[in-house]
Amino acid sequence: MPAASLEQLASLCKRRGFIYPSSDIYGGLQGVFDYGPLGVELKNNIINSWWSTNVYARDDMEGLDASILMNRLVWKYSGHEETFNDPLVDCRQCKGRWRADHIKGKCPSCGSSDLTEPRPFNMMFKTAIGPVADSDSFAYLRPETAQGIFANFGNVLATTSRKLPFGIAQVGKAFRNEINPRNFLFRVREFEQMEIEFFVMPGTDEEWHDRWLEDRLSWWESIGVPRSKIQIYDVPKDGLAHYSKRTYDLMYDYPTLGYEEIEGIASRSDYDLGSHSRDQENLGLSAKVSPNRDSVAKLTYYDQANNRHVVPFVIEPSAGVGRCFLAVLSEAYDEQLVKEPAADKVEAVRGALESFAKSVGRNDKMSDEQRDAIMAQAEHIGADLAHNLPQIEQLLAMPGADGIEVGKKLRGVAQPVVDEFYRTVLHLKPHLAPTKVAVFPLKRNHDGLVSMAKGIRSDLQMNANMRTVYDDTGAIGKLYRRQDEIGTPFCVTVDFESLENGTVTVRDRDSMQQERILAKELEQYVREKSR
Ligand code: GAP
Repeated sequence: MPAASLEQLASLCKRRGFIYPSSDIYGGLQGVFDYGPLGVELKNNIINSWWSTNVYARDDMEGLDASILMNRLVWKYSGHEETFNDPLVDCRQCKGRWRADHIKGKCPSCGSSDLTEPRPFNMMFKTAIGPVADSDSFAYLRPETAQGIFANFGNVLATTSRKLPFGIAQVGKAFRNEINPRNFLFRVREFEQMEIEFFVMPGTDEEWHDRWLEDRLSWWESIGVPRSKIQIYDVPKDGLAHYSKRTYDLMYDYPTLGYEEIEGIASRSDYDLGSHSRDQENLGLSAKVSPNRDSVAKLTYYDQANNRHVVPFVIEPSAGVGRCFLAVLSEAYDEQLVKEPAADKVEAVRGALESFAKSVGRNDKMSDEQRDAIMAQAEHIGADLAHNLPQIEQLLAMPGADGIEVGKKLRGVAQPVVDEFYRTVLHLKPHLAPTKVAVFPLKRNHDGLVSMAKGIRSDLQMNANMRTVYDDTGAIGKLYRRQDEIGTPFCVTVDFESLENGTVTVRDRDSMQQERILAKELEQYVREKSR
């Protein structure tokens, strides 16, 4: 069952070290996040899966890693200086600043409708290059990785033997000064993009656009984001970006947010290569571009069969790593009842939940919105308590709830029941799981068990290149739960029989079934089961 809310995911990410707020020790920085030990593994695995499918599994792709800082002229001719704007409004009452198309004519902070007229706000971050910061020395942090690919089109063509159609793939940071970053990783100011610019003969672009749509949907499916959760939005003409001839937005059904863009697949025609070329009047461009007197290149392709130079058309599938990370976590997330808790335990929790709700109702230190939100959540949990009991931890983390004294009692009664009867599990595809294998010795103070378990850990990690952890800090049941919560597909236990015959038990995360296999066959076992 996918996650019910973004808060549920954010809470797991914080608790288990997937994501931290940036600069946490100084109160954070809005719209910027850090990936922790498990987050960086999951993120790298997502990127590797994307690269492997889009570069290695095809024979029409090259890779690239272009710089973040580029000559300012790139952003002049790409059209970003002029058009990469969001509509900004100010609230005259509380001085809040908002993106006009994200609020419905009312200030979300104070509720006033006394707003200024929307005006364009350019989202590119500026920085100074070199020791003197004057009007000539600035550069932009790139707002998309795409322009690094267009600027290198001629280089890649000259240094490889590629013929059309072919593509260039790139993964890298992009920066946007979003007016209101929000919704955890969904809208941030610093993020990573996985982008492809696929160059085709003019006239074949519509066919390739549809082929890429299918290919991208297959990849989403392969990482556990099913087609049934993605809607294809054919962006209407008046909603298209300045470079686009046609765009399919893939809209994923995010918890809390509903359908929002996870990837854009744009048909960019000859706009970008044409914009960055000199002598445009002789190129037969179909896109409307600004005259370019600065470029030293003609970004064309020599069509040998017809003895002519053409400016290729471009299909661009572009996905954000953070939005992908959220979708993958959301699909994998599950809270399961492992065995039915005794009725008296559930009733004890119900009593504590009711006292908590009464106390919230009487509390005058929180805002009305906070109180309504907490009461609604408490009511939702109480309606099917045996099933929703694990959500009590998120209830207690809601804004305003930390001031409720009886919350501590509720946690004290609920937590042992959650630990004993429930598990949170991430059913991540094994190739994405941050940790592939966890190894436990049955006893932590037995030299033989510890040494064999540590040997398995280092063998799998160093020789088989599988992220493997060793843990002996609790009872085996508790260690299983800990690994379930971070999506580790296999837990290996070394016991006394292991010392006698070289076998270990392997417990499967999803079925919770165990089997005994030879330790020396673990690598092959994990590889086969991970396919
Ligand atoms: N080169 C095309 C391009 O950048 P885009 O639709 O602006 O197109 C592509 O961005 C993808 O980048 C989006 O589908 C989304 O996944 C991600 N993205 C864009 N802005 C973002 C933001 N502020 N925070 C997180 N991800 C973002």
